[in-house]
Amino acid sequence: MPPVPPTEAATFWRAGRSYRAPLLVRQLPPEVPFGFLGRVLPTNETLELLVEAHRIPPPDALELLHGAKAVAEAELVAGGNGGETAALEIERASAEDLGRAVARRTQELWKVGIRFVALASTRPHVEAKRSRLSERLSTLGFRLRVPRYEVRETLSPPDLSAAESRPFGYWHTLPTDGLASLFPFGDETLLEPGGILLGLALSDASPVFVDRWSHASHSWGIFGTTGAGKSFAAALTLLRTRWMRPETSVAILDPLGEYTLLVETLGGSVIHVADGVGGRLNPLDPVTTRGDRREKAARVGTMLRALFPSLRDEEAAELDAAVTRLYERGPEVPTFRDLCDRVVEQSGPTTRLTTLLEVFRSGSLRALDGPTTARPTEALVSVDFQGVPDDQLPFHLTYVLDWAYGRLAERKGGKLLVVDEAHLLARHASTEEFLDRVVRHVRHFNAGLVVLSQSPDDFLIRPAGRSLLRNLYATAFLRLPEVSADTRAFFGLTGAEAEWLPRARLPKETGYSESLWRVGELHLPLAIVASTPEYELLEATLGQPRTSPGHAPAAPKGGL
Ligand SMILES: Nc1ncnc2c1ncn2[C@@H]1O[C@H](COP(=O)(O)OP(=O)(O)OP(=O)(O)O)[C@@H](O)[C@H]1O
Ligand SMILES: [Mg+2]
Repeated sequence: MPPVPPTEAATFWRAGRSYRAPLLVRQLPPEVPFGFLGRVLPTNETLELLVEAHRIPPPDALELLHGAKAVAEAELVAGGNGGETAALEIERASAEDLGRAVARRTQELWKVGIRFVALASTRPHVEAKRSRLSERLSTLGFRLRVPRYEVRETLSPPDLSAAESRPFGYWHTLPTDGLASLFPFGDETLLEPGGILLGLALSDASPVFVDRWSHASHSWGIFGTTGAGKSFAAALTLLRTRWMRPETSVAILDPLGEYTLLVETLGGSVIHVADGVGGRLNPLDPVTTRGDRREKAARVGTMLRALFPSLRDEEAAELDAAVTRLYERGPEVPTFRDLCDRVVEQSGPTTRLTTLLEVFRSGSLRALDGPTTARPTEALVSVDFQGVPDDQLPFHLTYVLDWAYGRLAERKGGKLLVVDEAHLLARHASTEEFLDRVVRHVRHFNAGLVVLSQSPDDFLIRPAGRSLLRNLYATAFLRLPEVSADTRAFFGLTGAEAEWLPRARLPKETGYSESLWRVGELHLPLAIVASTPEYELLEATLGQPRTSPGHAPAAPKGGL
């Protein structure tokens, strides 16, 4: 018997016992979760998806966006077409944002052809499959259409020019992110050779490796509520970095003294700020700026403002003048005694400023008055601030950051600087600016920061904080009690991601941390999982009080 020729019906195509029922997209939802197609195209049903993408040259893309913005603006002026003002506002703003992204070349525009086809061997089956697919897509916000009497034009193969005419609902204009979200396999894996394991994808446990050193910024941020596993994740990063590159130098600014035992166990050294064990760091030593005395004077101004936030303008100006003179004319390596002398010379012995500075002569900070004696040579060093009064923490963190920054510049090879409880530096504009500067400049020394804090909101208030966040190549969000609109907009989180973060599971519930990583432009929901030896080492040391010397747990020999 000769084969039955294919026939076109109103809404499907038939060749023998093979039925093809197409479905087009009238309107795409404003946002979709990454990898959503993996869920709407189940592996136990035969469905076909065609996505063809044609890059729109940037000048044409900009013109298109300009046109879209102009149309939205014109409609807004005309009164928003009855109740559509909000949608038009969004359209205008997104055309504007996208225009900027296209101009910066972080996004491009694409002419994208999309066609779903249900396949089955009978007509009722193919219709049922198409309507199930249509329902699943509708719940995600897709508006769909079944092409009627347009089946042939819908199903004809692409002619690669993108110029052929297709039924309405076939062609769409999408930015790169939108196109990427259509990748059906949800393959968000990232395997950078030489990278360290960040975690396992929550969807299918595929591992994600990122090589910090291969990107323009080597700095990362980790945010999450208390107990979400930030310090643990930072410690894992540290262990894995040293595993891949044993020569990496690491310094940790550790306000709560959580890393002390870990660092000692790994053979590193610890400076205890509160009691001077491990030696003194003289905050005024210009070695940290490699002898640049003017820069040092500026940093000293920053640290003193963090210590004395109540300084009046004229007092701050007096102090600045005294500091400047100290570095112009003072001893090679000044101490606080020298600074106090300068201030007394300038303003007399009984001003409020001299009284404040007494804290370095006879008060709680007198241990800092003297030359630097801590000169750790180990590749792993932490500074433990436990026991320091809360209101002095920003000051201590600032001069130790200055010291650590100097150390980064001076040492060879890759370097990591972990700053835990970094919100302490976001309390004051000047210390936040300093931290931002460090993040922006360390890449020149082959160094990266790991900045830990409970909420990204702490850094979204001032321009310096925002600049700092922008310069983190990877940002991990562990559970956040809430995701502010500002955080959502700044990091480009989708509604689904923002809703999920307050529900991300904690290590005490699961034995690992659930997290959302933003790595470059990718959003990766990952489980931060430790191997057994890593877990045993960290559980025994991280956040634990020091044991007496000689009783530190042995570092496991194994690795990943
Ligand atoms: N990925 C993980 N796998 C297993 N256990 C973890 C993991 N992350 C954290 N934990 C455990 O959860 C507890 C809290 O973790 P961690 O101290 O790192 O939280 P944190 O976010 O730094 O909290 P805080 O803001 O209070 O410093 C610790 O006891 C730690 O051992
Ligand atoms: Mg912590």
